[in-house]
Amino acid sequence: MQCSLGTIGDSLPDWVNLSYANVATTSPIAHQTSTEWSDSLARGGAAEFDGEAEKNGMMPLRRATARLLSCKVEDVCVGSSATELLCSVAWATSPPKGSNIVSTRASFPSTVYPWIRVADANGAEVRLANHNSDFYTEPDDILSLIDEDTSVVTVSHVEFSSGQRYDLRRFADAAHSVGAILVVDATQSMGMVPIDAPNSGADVIVSSGYKWLRGTYGAAVGYISPSVRPDMYPGLVGFRSHDDIWDLRAERMTLPEDASRFEYTTIHFGAALGLAKAVDELCDFGTQEVWEHDIKLADKVIEGANRLGLSIISPRSEGERSAIVSLRMPDGISSEVIARRLQDEHSILVTSRAGLLRVSPHIDNTMEEVEMLFQALESIFS
Ligand SMILES: Cc1ncc(COP(=O)(O)O)c(C=O)c1O
Repeated sequence: MQCSLGTIGDSLPDWVNLSYANVATTSPIAHQTSTEWSDSLARGGAAEFDGEAEKNGMMPLRRATARLLSCKVEDVCVGSSATELLCSVAWATSPPKGSNIVSTRASFPSTVYPWIRVADANGAEVRLANHNSDFYTEPDDILSLIDEDTSVVTVSHVEFSSGQRYDLRRFADAAHSVGAILVVDATQSMGMVPIDAPNSGADVIVSSGYKWLRGTYGAAVGYISPSVRPDMYPGLVGFRSHDDIWDLRAERMTLPEDASRFEYTTIHFGAALGLAKAVDELCDFGTQEVWEHDIKLADKVIEGANRLGLSIISPRSEGERSAIVSLRMPDGISSEVIARRLQDEHSILVTSRAGLLRVSPHIDNTMEEVEMLFQALESIFS
C-alpha cells in the first residue's frame, strides 16, 4: 500500500530500509532541522543559540511527545539516549536490599543492565523470565515472578528480537497490586504502536529517538507519571537539574516538580529539535493510521515468508504482534550472510539478530519494497 505517507519515501535515497528496529532512515524534516541547527552553531555559537534558546531547547520535543502519548508536557522529559534515561530512572528508584526487579531474558540489554547495576549496589535481586526457542516469553511467566518484595517490573513494550508485544495494563496492574512500579522501554514500539501513556498504567516509559520515531542519534524521550515523580531523585544530575538553570550556584539544587527533573545537562539540541519535527509528523499522520500501515507491511512480510517456506518466529496474534517480523533461515544458511548480501547486492536493509533475519518496515516503506525483499531472497536462495 502506498499510503498517504508515501510522499516522505519519495525523497529517500537509494537504500530500501526495512530495518527500523535497527536504525531509521531519518525523517527528512528531522534531518533538515538537525542539520540547520548544527550549521547555525558552527556559524555563530551562542550568538545563534543563546541561553534562552538553550533553556527552552527541550520544549518542542516535550510538546510533540506529549501529543504522541496523550499526556501532559509536564510528564515528559528529554535525554540523549534511552539507556541514559533508564539508568537515571534505575538510580532514582533504587530498589532496596531484599527487594526484587522483574524482567525478561529476551529483553534488550539496556532494558535490564541499569537494574543489575543498582541491584548489585543495593543487594536487590533481578529476576528474568525465560523464553522459548522462538524468543517468546509467556506473559504469565513474568507475572509469576512478581511477589510482595517486587519493587520494579520492567519490560520492553515490544521485544527487539521477536517483536513480541506485551499488554502494559496487565503488567501495570500486577506491579501496582504489590506496590511496585512498571518501567517500560518503548524503544521498539513508540512511533509504531499507539501509546496512551496515562491509560497504559505504566509509571515510566522511555524511548530512543532513532528507530520508530525516525529521528537521528542523540535524542530520547521519557514519560514520568505524576504518581511516581515526587519520589524520584534522578540518578544523573547536573547544572540543568536546578529549576532555574541559569541561577548557577553549586550550594543548592532544587529539582523541578515536573519530569524535566530528569534533564540535567546540555545535549545535541539539534537532534532533539529534529526529533520533535519527526514526532509531530507522526502525530499529523495519525498514530492509528501509522500502526495499520505498519501491520499491513508486516502481513506482506509474513506472506512473502510463507511463499518461500521460511518459518516465522514472531507472534501473530492481534494482541501480541508488531511490525517486527523475524524469520528463520533455511538450515545451513547464516542470517548474517543473507543480511550482508541483501545490503551489498540489492541495497535492502534488514538486520541479523540472534541467528534470525529481522524485518521491521515502517511508514516510509511500501508493499512493493517488501516484495523486492522476497524477490531478492528468492534469487539469493536459488
Ligand atoms: C529495546 C531497546 N532499548 C534500548 C535500545 C538502545 O537505545 P539507546 O541507543 O537510545 O540507548 C535499543 C536498541 O536497539 C532497544 O532495542
